[in-house]
Amino acid sequence: MSEDGLRAAREKMAEAGLDPVSIRVFAHYYRLLEHGETGMIPEDSIEPLAMEALADVDVPDEVGTQALQETAVVKLNGGLGTSMGMDRAKSLLGVRKGLSFLDVIARQVLHLRATHGAQLPLIFMNSFRTSADTLTALARYDDPGLDRRLSVDGIPVEFLQSKEPKLREDDLTPVRWDRDPTLEWCPPGHGDIYNAMRATGVLDTLIDAGYRYVFVSNSDNLGAVPDPRVAGWFAASGAPFAIEAVRRTPSDRKGGHFARRRSDGRIVLRESAQTRPEDAEALADLDRHRYTSTNNLWFDLAAVRAELERRDGVLGLPLIRNVKTVDPADPSSPKVIQIETAMGAAIEVFEGARTIEVGRDRFVPVKTTNDLLVLRSDCYDLTREARVEQVAPTIPFVDLDGAHYKLVADFDARFPEGAPSLKDASRLVVEGDWTFGHGVRVVGDVTLRDEGGPRRVAPGTVLGQDGAGSGLGSR
Ligand code: UTP
Repeated sequence: MSEDGLRAAREKMAEAGLDPVSIRVFAHYYRLLEHGETGMIPEDSIEPLAMEALADVDVPDEVGTQALQETAVVKLNGGLGTSMGMDRAKSLLGVRKGLSFLDVIARQVLHLRATHGAQLPLIFMNSFRTSADTLTALARYDDPGLDRRLSVDGIPVEFLQSKEPKLREDDLTPVRWDRDPTLEWCPPGHGDIYNAMRATGVLDTLIDAGYRYVFVSNSDNLGAVPDPRVAGWFAASGAPFAIEAVRRTPSDRKGGHFARRRSDGRIVLRESAQTRPEDAEALADLDRHRYTSTNNLWFDLAAVRAELERRDGVLGLPLIRNVKTVDPADPSSPKVIQIETAMGAAIEVFEGARTIEVGRDRFVPVKTTNDLLVLRSDCYDLTREARVEQVAPTIPFVDLDGAHYKLVADFDARFPEGAPSLKDASRLVVEGDWTFGHGVRVVGDVTLRDEGGPRRVAPGTVLGQDGAGSGLGSR
């Protein structure tokens, strides 16, 4: 049955004009899926990983500037933000003052170019779903009348990642969805970056243009600035590949972490899905496995090209089996499996790969509308260099009611005047359907309870002072 499935998937990809290596890469992971590959990493096969911290490393200014001059920046922008109810790139969302994630990223790069005399090409990895919107939004930076154009001569501003058929969960054949055939396809996860850079020719273009390093990060992480100190550290290390790590916190207990594989000494990233139930305690032990990935990654272009050539285009990363519905907006549509891989997992492929501990300022991911509310609030300041700077003493824990705030459109409707002030908050839990008026402040620990219907927090209310909820009104 699944031999038919693989054949049908290959044919579908070939008909769509995908290149043979991309199809071969897909077939590799399809076979792993078919054989029930789980990629488990037992606790007794790894040991904790120690690493140096950026704060302790001395990087002379000229070393940082030199490294930046040889670096290109890639932003992962192919995901669809489905966890926030989106079907386009998260980077098009507004952050503040009319600026989107994309605008902030562009300004960060323009600023670094100006201060370091670096070309610093900025390239987006888009998927078939995110390309058109992203290019439209970027067009305003390519007005020939501007003296600060974003595109660097000869280097494209985007490359497209591959796409692959979503597979029916029951028989692993490509799903058909006549209502909207574009939903029959998905991007193969950000682990596709290596193959996509090869297939689109961007890898060769950058090497031919004299670039040596690439800094890659999620477009939803505005802390991921191509910082000259990290660039200098990476260049001086001579490593082929490196990932920036942060200390795990209690909220990362169930998440992935770095470790060293006993058998060959390589660094690996173990995700919770790769952890056996009997190792759950070790996974959650923050003193044992202390570091998690930021997905800010540096690699040497020539080393990646050589490794791809050596492995015939298939890096062989751990498989991620992602179960969704064919129409993400319709939970009753057929269940499908999306085959994905993660970019950071490639750390185990490279002999001599490194990690470095960086501050939380380099890791400000927006995975949910809870994260988006904090980012849009006064907990952060956007500096003249377009850096996102934490100004609140601590970042509050925010938990908005899934039924009313999970999707961006619902969330925006309930904060029509923007985010409330959260810089003096430690915790904000919203149960039920509350719409926030202008100038609301949250102080300390606040919970709004479900009152059975839509309610309003009146403009100017201070929540958490003199008893949470004073000044609330209903609509
Ligand atoms: P996430 O998985 O966190 O975000 O990817 P997402 O895919 O945008 O959102 P969900 O999971 O659908 O809710 C982290 C980064 O990797 C990019 C995303 O654009 C984001 O910047 N990404 C993800 C890709 O570029 N390609 C992919 O195939 C998947």
